[in-house]
Amino acid sequence: MRKTGGRGYPRHTPATCLTKQTGAWLTLFVSGGGAGLNILLLQEAFRRDYGRKLEAAALLARGSLMKKVFKWILLILVVGFVVAQFFQVVRTNPPFTATQTIENIVNVPEDVHATLTRACGACHSNQTEWPWYSHVAPTSWFVVDHVDQGRRRINFSAWVRPGHEPQDSIDRLKAMCREVQSGGMPLTSFEIMHWHSWLSVDDVKQICDWSTAEQKRLGGNASGN
Ligand code: HEC
Repeated sequence: MRKTGGRGYPRHTPATCLTKQTGAWLTLFVSGGGAGLNILLLQEAFRRDYGRKLEAAALLARGSLMKKVFKWILLILVVGFVVAQFFQVVRTNPPFTATQTIENIVNVPEDVHATLTRACGACHSNQTEWPWYSHVAPTSWFVVDHVDQGRRRINFSAWVRPGHEPQDSIDRLKAMCREVQSGGMPLTSFEIMHWHSWLSVDDVKQICDWSTAEQKRLGGNASGN
């Protein structure tokens, strides 16, 4: 049952008045707070979104800068590569006579010959099979340099040089065993490009056994193993 006032309105007692007032204030307070909070949240969302956009823009800018840098590096590399082709080096296989070859002085059995040809011949003989990359600069520069230097130290095709002494052969045989034992030869760059040139433990033993035997035969103090 409701107590009604004169015109049917709920009767206002101080208690209901106070309740209503409190309710109104509370509503106002809460909704106001809510609105305030909403604004704060909106602001925060906006800031975050804007920040993300700024970040995205910075990333894009950085990306396009990197692209530009890469483009320039690529261009320089391509131009450098093309220009390098004009600086060709000479690949030679000078003629030689049988009287000059290693076989003329040193006994080289078939199997040793095969190993030396496959692993050393490219740089230590005048029978170089020039690989395709020896025709392309800048690798051609390194390859030709290796062959020139290699031939200068030891050349199976020009083993016998003017004034050749047995000791020369002995020294070279010694050095060959030493180089394959230490892994200094064949050159690593060559091994990478020519997998067939890798020397097994047996191959090294084969070369060193041969080297020792030939050093002895030629009259030196054999060493190497
Ligand atoms: C890719 C080319 C290349 C191949 C293959 C190669 N060499 Fe050499 N070799 C060189 C060059 C270059 C030098 C001179 C520079 C140096 O001593 O490092 C050299 C030097 C040497 C020397 C002289 C080292 C010294 O101390 O004077 C010996 C011995 C030698 N090589 C043995 C061999 C033997 C044995 C093989 C095969 C198992 C072989 N090389 C394969 C390039 C080569």
